[in-house]
Amino acid sequence: MRELTPETITDAVLEQMATTSDPRLKEIMAAAVKHLHDFAREVNLTPGEWIKGIEFMTLVGKMCTPARQEFILLSDTLGLSALVNGLHDKTALEEGTHTSLLGPFYREASPRLSAGSQIARHVKPGSECVLYGRVTDIKDKPLANATVSVWQTSADGLYDIQENPTATDYRGVFTTDAEGLYVVRTVRPCGYSIPMDGPVGNMVKAQARHGMRPAHIHFLVGSPGYRELVTALYLRDDPHLADDVVFGSSDDLAVDIVPDDPQSPVKGVPSIRFDLRLSREGEADRTSGRVGSDPSAILKEAAPAAH
Ligand SMILES: [Fe+2]
Repeated sequence: MRELTPETITDAVLEQMATTSDPRLKEIMAAAVKHLHDFAREVNLTPGEWIKGIEFMTLVGKMCTPARQEFILLSDTLGLSALVNGLHDKTALEEGTHTSLLGPFYREASPRLSAGSQIARHVKPGSECVLYGRVTDIKDKPLANATVSVWQTSADGLYDIQENPTATDYRGVFTTDAEGLYVVRTVRPCGYSIPMDGPVGNMVKAQARHGMRPAHIHFLVGSPGYRELVTALYLRDDPHLADDVVFGSSDDLAVDIVPDDPQSPVKGVPSIRFDLRLSREGEADRTSGRVGSDPSAILKEAAPAAH
């Protein structure tokens, strides 16, 4: 038996894992081990620090419920979700609207609504706005019957599932018309803090970060034959447009609320126009490009099968 040292342990682990039959699993795990070991060597990780790290990840897992996904929040606040999104974008056949984070508050069970429906149950006076735009391919050909799913926070900066895990509000699924047009009535989105009452919030506080996301509305757009688009619009005048705590915002996704846009399909209400361009579907789109999930779906998948 050879003697293992901090210098030789990495090769010993890689050697033992070399029997992995799935080549992609083998590649991912070998790289993960190499980088984890390099990380420990680089910072000269102490036993107490590593236990603290394990305690932290244990708390992150315990915080997860069908309505809250603390691990997605961790991935988001470390920039890993944005990085994986960016890598996925590079595999698109064509350059459409850029993607942004799905985030931890997406929900598959959203109501299907007719064009122009209001997605908020309560609309405070003066807060209503119209959200509209065209869904096209990258050559501006309108995509009829495309599915446009939107979700956002209330005026208090909370998603429906944060207020009540069984409530549905501030979200809906719309369909484009023959011109590729979608029309949604909603309320002005506001910037909000990510949940700061859990381990990820404690990490963000320890780093003296503000924890804020700029005002945004999430989109998930689909049309047969085209790459599913996960994106969001961001309000240009938000003070946190440039320092989003989850690295989702970007200038090309920034929009204005226009008080009297003559092209708006609904007159007399401030409007946001957000056009969406989809790339044709390619080889890389056989698996989902969503970095994130409905929190309840993740727990369902993680639960042992019933017998
Ligand atoms: Fe969000």
